[in-house]
Amino acid sequence: MLNKKNAVTMEKIVSLCKRRGFIFPGSEIYGGLANAWDYGPYGAELKNNIKQRWWRKFVEEREDMVGLDAAIIMNPETWKASGHLDNFSDPLAECQKCKSRYRTDQLIDAKICPNCGGEMSAPRQFNLMFKTFIGPAEESANVAYLRPETAQGIFVNFKNVLDTMRPKLPFGIGQIGKAFRNEITPGNFVFRTREFEQMEIEYFIAMPKKDKDWQAVFESWRKEMLVWMKELGLDVKNNVHELNVPDGERAHYSKKTIDFEYDFPFGKKELYGLAYRTDYDLKQHAKLSGIDLTCADEAGNKFTPHVIEPSLGVERTVLAVLCAAYNEEKVKEETRTVMKFPHWLAPVKIAVFPLLKNKPELVKKAKAVFDALKKDYICEFDDNGNIGKRYRRQDEIGTPFCLTVDFDTLEKGDVTVRDRDTMKQERVKIEELGEYFEEKLK
Ligand code: GLY
Repeated sequence: MLNKKNAVTMEKIVSLCKRRGFIFPGSEIYGGLANAWDYGPYGAELKNNIKQRWWRKFVEEREDMVGLDAAIIMNPETWKASGHLDNFSDPLAECQKCKSRYRTDQLIDAKICPNCGGEMSAPRQFNLMFKTFIGPAEESANVAYLRPETAQGIFVNFKNVLDTMRPKLPFGIGQIGKAFRNEITPGNFVFRTREFEQMEIEYFIAMPKKDKDWQAVFESWRKEMLVWMKELGLDVKNNVHELNVPDGERAHYSKKTIDFEYDFPFGKKELYGLAYRTDYDLKQHAKLSGIDLTCADEAGNKFTPHVIEPSLGVERTVLAVLCAAYNEEKVKEETRTVMKFPHWLAPVKIAVFPLLKNKPELVKKAKAVFDALKKDYICEFDDNGNIGKRYRRQDEIGTPFCLTVDFDTLEKGDVTVRDRDTMKQERVKIEELGEYFEEKLK
C-alpha cells in the first residue's frame, strides 16, 4: 500500500506544496478562500506537463481524434437538454442545531448531525451548477450556468466538427478546460474543489448492433487509461482499483461506468471515470435544438452515434502524481525528501550549479552551460549554499539531474551530473551534454 511504503500523508503533501511553490492556498493575503487553491511556479509546470502530454497522446498522436476548445458559459438550453438542470444534484440536509450542512448520501445516519448530534432537516435536492447572469440585469431571463462538465461543449459542436473535418466513425473529440460544481462538501486539498479542470474525450461510435460492439471500444479505452496512469508513475497494480459503478449510482446518462479509484492518503477515492453514455446526449440535443445530429451508414440509413467517455480530472491527477512521487529516504544521518516524478513530469529537468559562487570563472562557465541547456529544457541556476543543500532543494521539487561546474571543468571541459534517484554522479564532457540529456530526458 502506497501510504505505508513511502510514508506520505496529506499534511506532508500540503506542506511541501506550499513550501516549495507547487500549490498555495487561494487568495491567501485575504485570509484565503475555503477550498480554493492557486498553482505556484512548479505546480503550474507540473500541471502543464500533464495537460500537454495528455493532448499530445490522445489528440495529436491519434488519427481518430481531434481537439476542441469550447466556451465555459453555454446557452442554458444545453443544460436542459443534457439533463443537468433536472438531475445534477446532491441531497443536502442541514443540522437544526449547529446549522452544518451535509450531503446525506455521505452520512451513515442522515437524521443525526455528525458534528453536534443534533437533528438533521429532511434532505432536499441541491443542484450543483453555478448560476450566473449574462449582462447587467439579474433576472431569470438572463440566467446562465458555468459548465459542470466540458463534455457538453463537445456534444453541441458535434455537427460543426462533422461538417468541417469530415471524420469517419469511430472518432473522438478531446478537450481540456475548466468546469465548476458548487459542491456541498469540497475538501481533501485539491481533490474536490468547486473550480477544476477536466481532460475529456467523447469517442463516437456507430450505433452498436450488439452489446459487444460498444463493449470492445469501452475495453480499449479502459486499457488506454491504465497505460496513461502507468506513464504518470502511479503504481497501477497496487494503488489503482476499478469500481464497476452499480445501477442506481451512475450518472443519469450512463449505461456503464468504471471508476478508477486511487489510494490517496485519505482513502480509496475516484481518480478517473470511464462511461458509456449511449446516444443520450446527442439525441437530447437534437430534440431540443431541432438540429439533425445523426450520421448515415453505407446504405444511407441514419443513426445517432453512441459515445464512450474517458473523463480525467487535472487536479486529481496532480494530487495522485504528488502522492506517488513522494519519498523519504535515509541518507547517512539525514532524511531526504525526494519527489520521484517520471522525468517528463518533473517541473525542472536540470539544475546547474557553480561549485562556488565567489569564483567568477566557475560562475561564468556554469552560466554558459545553463544558457545552452535552457534552450531545450526547463533549467534552474542555483549558486546558493553548499552543494549538499542545493541537491536537497532540487530533490524536493523532483529535478531529475543536477549538474555541477567545478575546477576540473575549467581544465578538462567536463562537469559532474548527479542522478536524483540513485544519487550517483558521473563526469560528462560539456560538448556531449546535449546528446546525454537527449537520451536521458526525451
Ligand atoms: N463528463 C463526466 C463528468 O464530468 O463527470
